[in-house]
Amino acid sequence: EQKSGPVVAIDGPSGAGKSTVAKTLATAIDAAYLDTGAMYRAATLAVLNAGVDPSQTAQVTKAVKNAKLEFGTTPEDPFTRVDGEDADLAIRGDDVTKAVSAVAGNKSVRKFLIDEQRRIIADAKAGIVVEGRDIVSVVAPDADVKVYLTADPVERAKRRAAENGADANATAKDIERRDTADSKTTKPLEAPEGAVVIDSTTLPIVEVVAKILALLSNREIDD
Ligand code: DC
Repeated sequence: EQKSGPVVAIDGPSGAGKSTVAKTLATAIDAAYLDTGAMYRAATLAVLNAGVDPSQTAQVTKAVKNAKLEFGTTPEDPFTRVDGEDADLAIRGDDVTKAVSAVAGNKSVRKFLIDEQRRIIADAKAGIVVEGRDIVSVVAPDADVKVYLTADPVERAKRRAAENGADANATAKDIERRDTADSKTTKPLEAPEGAVVIDSTTLPIVEVVAKILALLSNREIDD
């Protein structure tokens, strides 16, 4: 049997640097890349497009299952499409960001997206780097390398604000609101059991990536 490439799971709160680290790492090891947050965001866009209130459980589930959600897993171009339309910009917009925690808290939506995530991981023969909130604890507990990436809240807000060209104070409030809302569903502020904790507050991206690469090669020596 041909051995397939590694599965790397990276969890952590928003603004910890997960996306940049995960994409850089996936490119470095020629693996695929999956942003599970983008999947919850795409589901949320489908709900808003259908004119459904994000708190209406049954209608939300129906809208998500009826939509055509597509996710590209190439780290250089990880596109998201909703009903055939390029959704990369819309899923990062304020409307989706405000509604996403409610949609991600819907149990049927989670089950539906987690099944899809596991399918994508199983299909990624060259290996895959997966980022999210519950990858280590729920989606891929058997991942080859499990990382919890965090940073202090002030630094996280600064990074998000710089990314979005927004005010740091408003962004800090927004991150805090979302971490609290997400805590009802996942535990973004707690390191999952079995994960290596990396604090990126003062670590440059390249060093975070180097640490994960070292974890990967140690593991290969163990095998
Ligand atoms: O990482 P992000 O900010 O793009 O994630 C968007 C939302 O999706 C976030 O508020 C929590 C939710 N999410 C989740 O519940 N489980 C995941 N594995 C990833 C994201």
